[in-house]
Amino acid sequence: MEKYSQFRDRGSGIAPFIPVKTPRSRLALLTHLTIFFLRLPMFLTIALTYALFLHHLPLPAVVRKACLWSIMLVPGIWWVDLQLDGVRRGTLAEQPRNRVPHPGSVIAATFTSPIDTLYLAAIFDPVFTRSYPSTRQVEPLSLFGAVAASLAPVRLRPAPRTNLVDLGALVARHPDRVIVVFPEASPTNGKAVLPFTPSLLGAAPDTPIFPVSLRYTPADVTTPVPGRWFSFLWDLLSRPSTCVRVRIAESVYNTSRGGTDAANHPQDDADYAPVSHDEQLVLDKIADALARLGRNKRVGLTLKDKTAFIDAWNGRK
Ligand SMILES: *[C@@H]1O[C@H](CO)[C@@H](O)[C@H](O)[C@H]1NC(C)=O
Repeated sequence: MEKYSQFRDRGSGIAPFIPVKTPRSRLALLTHLTIFFLRLPMFLTIALTYALFLHHLPLPAVVRKACLWSIMLVPGIWWVDLQLDGVRRGTLAEQPRNRVPHPGSVIAATFTSPIDTLYLAAIFDPVFTRSYPSTRQVEPLSLFGAVAASLAPVRLRPAPRTNLVDLGALVARHPDRVIVVFPEASPTNGKAVLPFTPSLLGAAPDTPIFPVSLRYTPADVTTPVPGRWFSFLWDLLSRPSTCVRVRIAESVYNTSRGGTDAANHPQDDADYAPVSHDEQLVLDKIADALARLGRNKRVGLTLKDKTAFIDAWNGRK
């Protein structure tokens, strides 16, 4: 039997937790090593200067964004293909305000790599959050908290004394910011959309929620397995460039037609907070949008499956 076959989706055969590898020739290794060691000091200097020093200064958003762009330029994350779903190619600025994420709205983003956070920060300067299957509330995160979360161990429940808030309250507290939610709560390799945690249900019915899909080419910069900082940096820094493909769908609202309220657990998993039938429809709509934008599929594998996968993966040697 194929290894890890129990961590493939039964319907589609997709394995969303296995790290993506880009085949490289041995001949090219020297080039990769050279590029890596040329860039690493520059990358670390800029990233740490920003993280430890500039980030804490009350700099205007435009300066913060410029710093983040320079962090992304060093590894060559410069080619960004951005499109609004159903809109002809154009720039963000030409679109009506209600078509793109704006202050007071929420971004429901795919979660695959630390680059998700860097990119979203460079464009929207948002407030980041972490979601958990067991609760509707979210944990507000700093930029670096969000980067760390993309390589952090899976958590089905928040740690004791985690600062949790309702998404609606967070939107109200930051009327001049966009709020980013990663509804899948833990990174995948980008090949599928996992069942959502219930955090988006905390959004008020009049708050636009924008599904935003980020995909990378090569996809080896995705970090489905926690703690692999070195391989992330190696993949990111040892080749000339990484492309990002960004798709933004039309906003979805947290509204239901009311009515039936049979509570159900997604996938009958007791680690997921109960969600009513109508509420599940709202989550499904957003998950469907992410799968459509990412040209992939929704799968039934939960974060419990991911935990079991990580144990199997780490125990393999
Ligand atoms: C979001 O919508 C669901 C129904 O679709 C509702 O149960 C829930 O209370 C709403 N959340 C807020 C904060 O209004």
